[in-house]
Amino acid sequence: MFSLSEDELNLRILGCADGPASVNAELHAQGSHRYISVDPIYVFSGTEIEFRVHDTYDTIVSQVKKNSHRYLWNHFSDPDAQGAARLAAMRHFLTDYESGMAEGRYIAGSLPRLPFSNKEFDLCLCSHLLFLYSEQLSQDFHITALLEQLRVAREVRVFPLFDLNCQRSIHLDPVRHSLDKEGYYSELVKVAHEFQKGANEMLRVCAK
Ligand SMILES: C[S@@+](CC[C@H](N)C(=O)[O-])C[C@H]1O[C@@H](n2cnc3c(N)ncnc32)[C@H](O)[C@@H]1O
Repeated sequence: MFSLSEDELNLRILGCADGPASVNAELHAQGSHRYISVDPIYVFSGTEIEFRVHDTYDTIVSQVKKNSHRYLWNHFSDPDAQGAARLAAMRHFLTDYESGMAEGRYIAGSLPRLPFSNKEFDLCLCSHLLFLYSEQLSQDFHITALLEQLRVAREVRVFPLFDLNCQRSIHLDPVRHSLDKEGYYSELVKVAHEFQKGANEMLRVCAK
């Protein structure tokens, strides 16, 4: 999703809106100590998060099944396999959550205001929130949220740039225009990962 190199994995990285994903647990197991996840759900216990993920499981899998022609089924064989992979990732996350919370690797917080100081991170990665929820989150929210991520990190990467209907987000061009006016350079970079058909680019933003 983010074309991360081995060297970049050693940077101070913020995973913004990581939710119950396993990236923090996986990097920590590999010896990385500079990856921090922020998400509003981290006010909840592991048991509460697990309950919520199971509670929404059928709805999410059936939505993907209804639109399965809009996805590429090469990495996951079908919607059930994708759902199973999400649950496996959550279980991995849960094994790490309590100790990671005690170590300050999971921090509760919500865009558009993050609980970090200026340039505390080299890189902020945001997956499956901005642009994906284009109907639910306004253009202004996208701009404010990206400026906040750029306050706390030198560079921001966002994936995917398609909305839930698997269409390129209507916010993408106006948001990039606003970032340009605020003094930021942005570019679309092709990445290896593609699940929604055609959604194989990330947005990369940094100061000009
Ligand atoms: C679809 S999940 C994506 C999780 C993970 N990034 C991934 O790709 O698997 C969206 C996440 O955004 C989080 N979220 C929702 N509103 C947010 C906000 N205002 N600021 C930060 N995260 C938010 C949710 O709690 C949820 O964990």
